[in-house]
Amino acid sequence: MGKIKIIFVCLGNICRSPAAQGVMEKLIKEEKLEDFVEVDSAGTIAYHHGESADSRMIKHASRRSYELTSIARKFNPQKDFDDADYIVTMDNENYKDVLEMDYTGKYRNKIYKMTQFSRKIKAPEVPDPYYKGAEGFEYVLDILEDACGGLLERIKDEVNSEPEGKD
Ligand code: 4NP
Repeated sequence: MGKIKIIFVCLGNICRSPAAQGVMEKLIKEEKLEDFVEVDSAGTIAYHHGESADSRMIKHASRRSYELTSIARKFNPQKDFDDADYIVTMDNENYKDVLEMDYTGKYRNKIYKMTQFSRKIKAPEVPDPYYKGAEGFEYVLDILEDACGGLLERIKDEVNSEPEGKD
């Protein structure tokens, strides 16, 4: 069996999806699931292509000991729909945009919203922090920590239900 692949998707791929990637990578490492799960991120626009995560998000994430290593890129429907098992979008607009890129509906069952996996925090989406202050970035991280934990539980069930190979 190949690795389970998660791609987190936001608008610019410099704030929310890089943070989701950093949070999820840390959880996967803690659970020793690196051989089974891989994580990536992308944006629905190419405006920040090639950039590291936003310095404000890097700062807030590092205070919670997450390392953000992403380099911004645009979601590539020709490749990412086939590569990914979970395409996890941050807000309603990202969700709608990704659904629209899947114009035949072939990948519909791979497309999720991050807050579908929330356990404690009742937020309908992960709001864009770009024009907000420190509390906007902290709130994004609160939602992501909660929802990434929920997503991890779901993925652990999937990993554990895979039959063992013969050799
Ligand atoms: P992200 O945040 O989608 O979480 O990466 C944003 C990044 C850039 C812009 C908006 C939101 N922008 O307008 O350039």
